[in-house]
Parts: sequence; C-alpha cells; structure tokens
Amino acid sequence: MSAIESVLVENRVFPPSEATVQAARISGMPAYEALCREAESDFEGFWARLGRENVQWTKPFTQVLDESKAPFYQWFADGELNASANCLDKHVGTPVENKTAIVFESDDGQVTNVSYKELLARVGQFANALKAQGIRKGDRVIVYMPMGVEGVVAMQACARIGATHSVVFGGFSAKSIHERILDAGAVAIITANYQMRGGKEMGLKVIVDEALAMGGCDSVKSVLVYERTATPCNMVAGRDKTFAEALKGQGTECRPEPVNAEHPLFILYTSGSTGKPKGVQHSTGGYLLWSKLTMDWTFDLRPEDLFWCTADIGWITGHSYVAYGPLAAGATQLIFEGIPTFPHAGRFWEMIAKHKVSIFYTAPTAIRSLIKAAETDAKVHPNNWNLKSLRILGTVGEPINPEAWMWYYRNVGGERCPIVDTFWQTETGGHVITPLPGATPLVPGSCTLPLPGIMAAIVDETGKDIPNGSGGMLVIKRPWPSMIRTIWGDPERFKKSYFPEEMGGRLYLAGDGAVRDAKTGYFRITGRIDDVLNVSGHRLGTMEIESALVSKTDLVAEAAVVGRPDDLTGEAVCAFVVLKRSRPTGEEAKQIANELRNWVAKEIGPIAKPKDIRFGDNLPKTRSGKIMRRLLRSIAKGEQITQDTTTLENPGILDQLAQTN
Ligand code: WTA
Repeated sequence: MSAIESVLVENRVFPPSEATVQAARISGMPAYEALCREAESDFEGFWARLGRENVQWTKPFTQVLDESKAPFYQWFADGELNASANCLDKHVGTPVENKTAIVFESDDGQVTNVSYKELLARVGQFANALKAQGIRKGDRVIVYMPMGVEGVVAMQACARIGATHSVVFGGFSAKSIHERILDAGAVAIITANYQMRGGKEMGLKVIVDEALAMGGCDSVKSVLVYERTATPCNMVAGRDKTFAEALKGQGTECRPEPVNAEHPLFILYTSGSTGKPKGVQHSTGGYLLWSKLTMDWTFDLRPEDLFWCTADIGWITGHSYVAYGPLAAGATQLIFEGIPTFPHAGRFWEMIAKHKVSIFYTAPTAIRSLIKAAETDAKVHPNNWNLKSLRILGTVGEPINPEAWMWYYRNVGGERCPIVDTFWQTETGGHVITPLPGATPLVPGSCTLPLPGIMAAIVDETGKDIPNGSGGMLVIKRPWPSMIRTIWGDPERFKKSYFPEEMGGRLYLAGDGAVRDAKTGYFRITGRIDDVLNVSGHRLGTMEIESALVSKTDLVAEAAVVGRPDDLTGEAVCAFVVLKRSRPTGEEAKQIANELRNWVAKEIGPIAKPKDIRFGDNLPKTRSGKIMRRLLRSIAKGEQITQDTTTLENPGILDQLAQTN
C-alpha cells in the first residue's frame, strides 16, 4: 500500500492523556475551540490582543490589518519594534537573563553553553562590527554559515541593525549563491572558512569566492569569515575580514534599531514552479509574533524545557524554530552542528539522552533513515538510550507515513509523547495546520486542524469550497500576520503564484493538495499540486533542475524532470534526458548519468542530484510539442502506461524511456 493510500484508511486515534491536557497551555479541545471562536467573531481584535501580549513594541500599533493594497496585506503597520530586542533585550532583568539560551554540540561532540546574557553581548558586538563595515538598515546581507552559535549571532545582529538577512543553506552551490547575491543586491556576505560535517572539513569560503568571481557582484563590499577550523583559507585584502579582525575593538552594547512592523526581516529563497528560485520576503512584527506564539502553542513550551529543532538555519524551519522563535519565547535550545549518522546512526538518541531534551522536532526523512539504520544495526536503536526526558515530539517538511509515525511514537516517545505533525511552508512563516499537544486527538499521517486564526480550507480551481471527504487545493482564506509579504523584486509573480485571479485573487494558494476527513474535518496533505518536488523535506523545482541540465550545452539537448515516490526520501528526482549525441547504453550511460549528477550538484547543490537519469532519442510530446509529464511520471514510477497516448507524436519513445540503466 502506498503512503497516501494508507493515510486514507488510517483510523487509529491517540488522544492526549488527561495529565497532558491538565498541564497544557491550551488545555483540551474546548480551549482550542474557544480561541478559534474568538478569531472568527473578532478577527482583528484577536490578532491585536496576541500582538500586544507577545511582542514588545517600541511604538505600539494602532492599526491591525490593512487590506487596502490586498493581496499585499500589512499587519500592525504603524507599529515599531526590533526583532533582536524581542529575542534578547526583552529578557534582561527577568529570570531568563541568566538562563542558557543555546547548548551547542559540535560535530565531534564538544559542548558549549551560551546564556541569554552572553548571547546578547555577542550579538551586540557583532552588530557593531557590521555597522563598522558600513552596513545599514535596509541593506541585504547573505549568511552562508554552518550550524552553530555564530550563524544565529549573525542573523540576530543583522536584525539588530535593521539589515535584511538572506541565509543560503551551506549545501548550495556557488551558482546558487551568485544568483541570490544578484537578486537581493547584497552588500555583504557572512560565511565561515570551513564547515565540519561527519568528521570532514568542507570549504565554505572557497564557494563564496567562486560565487563572487562569477561577475556582477559589485554590490558586495565585505566578506566576514568565521574561522571554524584552524585551516587557512583564501582571503582577499580589502574585502575579506576574519570575525576576530572585524570584532576587534567593538563594544558589546549596540542599541537595537527600531523598524516598522512591515520592515523586511529576511528574504529566504525557495523553489517554485519556474526555473528561478523566489525570494520570499517576511515582515518583522507579524513574523516575530507567530514564531514566538507557535513555540508556546504548538510545543506547549515551559521554562524548564530543552528544545531541539534539528533543522538547518538555511531553511525556514531553522529561521522560525532556531534563530527566532525559541529565543523570543525564552527557551533553552540545543543546536547541533553535525549529521544524524556520525559517528553512528544513534547520534540523535544519544544526544537526547545526554542533554535531556524534552521537545524534539525533526523531519520524517530523518526518522525513516534512522528506522532503517536501527533495523539493520540494533546498537543504534533508540531503545539503547534513556529517552524519558522527552515529552513532545514534532515533525515538519513532508507528509509522515503512518508506519514511521507509529515507530516514532513507540520507540522514541515511549507511547507517552504527543507527536505534532506541523504543516507549514517557507511562505507561511510558521505553523498553520498542526495538532496541539494538550488538546488534539492525534491521527497518524494527519496534520489535523488549523491553528486558531488560520482560516484554512479546501477548494476547487475556481475557489469554491469542496465538501469534507473529497480532495482539492489547500488555501487560507484570510491573511495572517506571519504570511509572505511579497517575492523580493517581483510583486507580479507574488500575486500570480499565491493569489490567482481564477480563484478571485484573495485566497492564499498553498500549492498543496489536501483532503479533510468526512467526520473529524482533519486535514491530510496529499502532496504538491505544482512542479515542486519534496525530496527529504527539501523543496526543489523540477524546472530548476531542468534548466541546470540543459545548461550543460555541450552534452544535453533536452531534459524533463519529474518526481517519483521513494520509501526513504519521500520523493526522488527522476530526469529524462536527450543528448546532443546518440543515446548511450550500458556502462557509457552510467558514466554520463554520473557526469550529469555532478553537474547538477555544481549548478544547484548536491540535494538536487537526480536519483534516476534515463536517456531517450526524444521525449514524449504532443503534436503541438508539449512534453507529456504525466506519462513521464508513470514511467518514473515503473507503472504500466494506461493513459491515452493517441495525442502522442512519437509513442515508440515510451518503451525506450522505460528502460533503466
Ligand atoms: C510540505 C517547510 C505534509 C508541503 C516548513 C509544503 C508538509 C512544503 C508538511 C513546504 C507536513 C511541510 N505534512 N507536507 N507536516 N510540512 N510540507 O517551504 O508540500 O521547505 O508545501 O517549508 O513542504 O516546504 P518548505
């Protein structure tokens, strides 16, 4: 049975224990429903109350939601605040001040603790160093850093002076960085000489150098380099400075710059249905409100918790639930530099036991790969460690299949910990559909119900509601504070992608298919409805990979990329390629396929490497020349072609493409 089919027949229900309900902030379904009713009866009043209670404003807002330029919605638009002050300064003089903010564990297992007070000083000093480089409010700064305290300090320091950061995941290529530098018009890059992953030292600065050498990067005036290891790297005089050089002589106090609530806190690039990644622009006020509040609601955060979100700061999850949410909520969090399989595949469980993690938040792909590891080697099974400190588990980034859910529930959570299957997106800024640990009865494979104030629904192509029990497109009918504000530099694309005219222009289109249970109204996400793939929880555009392939102009004539289901990674990338030379077979085909995989890794990043590459003399096209992707999807899955192929120009091609090499 496929994951989707088994989700559809899932009927096990796991209600929270009475003790969990009693102790929770949102205690039981009546409390959840009361919040939903508050939002429905007085939408603006609801958000205004939360905005006042959860954010410190240097200038209080008087306006809540401004819809006059819809779908360019504005929230708390006349208010002013600083995001870093809300994460750090806010705690000064409270018991949080001397609490540990970050427990950092390096790749090789060394542990460092940083208190809130120390973090404030480090952010202040780094912010002063940024100012000394001439970086000002509104400037864009690229952050290309390994996981660690310094990455968070860099982001917080940008926020402190009102600079807009754009974090690029450390696995992206020079070409990807180059594209983002140009699109964002970045003035500076914060990076590290190397990163340590799985015991290996890997160059980061060398990739930044390569990106800057690609031309057109005159806007970049400085590159700040964190010396993660003692190995030297190339430094360009006048442009590059080590952290030590940049911080020298800088004081630790830096006044947080108040910014307007709508000021762009960050731009984060993500894949869409065209070749070019979109710069998702987020606000300061609304974004911060939701990253803080969802820490309290979804994770039911308590002062004594040790929170661990395993996501990298290069993704939205690492923004909302590493760099901002936990700090704004005054949590102690664990940050891990390395990978889950080094030095052994029990590393996560070992770390949970060692640090007494109480809330653990990770991706279904990680769980699936650790299940596999535990099945082949009993020594890395979670039952080798004491995981009693855990009280809440979470997942994010892709649908979790019920089998993996049950394994996580039993073997990691000891059948005691609720699992919050959080559905959200780079564009939503924070969770939108998720169980609440002390309220929602859980159903494996379902993200259950929308958070209060999130008006999620399922509609058809015209925007009309679809009854529960039938599948359709997931939309959010009313704006919410942490929503995407625009696509950086491309407001038209923002409107077209998320607020299509065909649906009336006011519904936020998530890009996912979903179905609501006929009885409970629970949501189940059935996967993307556009050309976006989800591989190991990473978003990849099929068009992006196609453009990378065809940019190898000496070899590739044409390429089409589709996804196919994969037990481990959720989806896998499958590329159909027509070469400029004759179609290769056997060893030669393998060799060219590898060459193309490495090319894609260089163009985008290793995460985008196609798993399957198949060669054909041509691609299946209609007589008007359109590539028939649905046929390619069937071939990729290894299905018998049952679709109508009469409109196909060249039906013979299908057998050829069905052959694997
Ligand atoms: C998918 C990650 C099912 C979905 C926070 C969405 C999920 C895309 C879930 C966004 C979930 C995320 N269940 N699918 N709990 N969470 N997705 O922007 O397809 O990297 O549109 O944000 O991941 O990926 P993104």
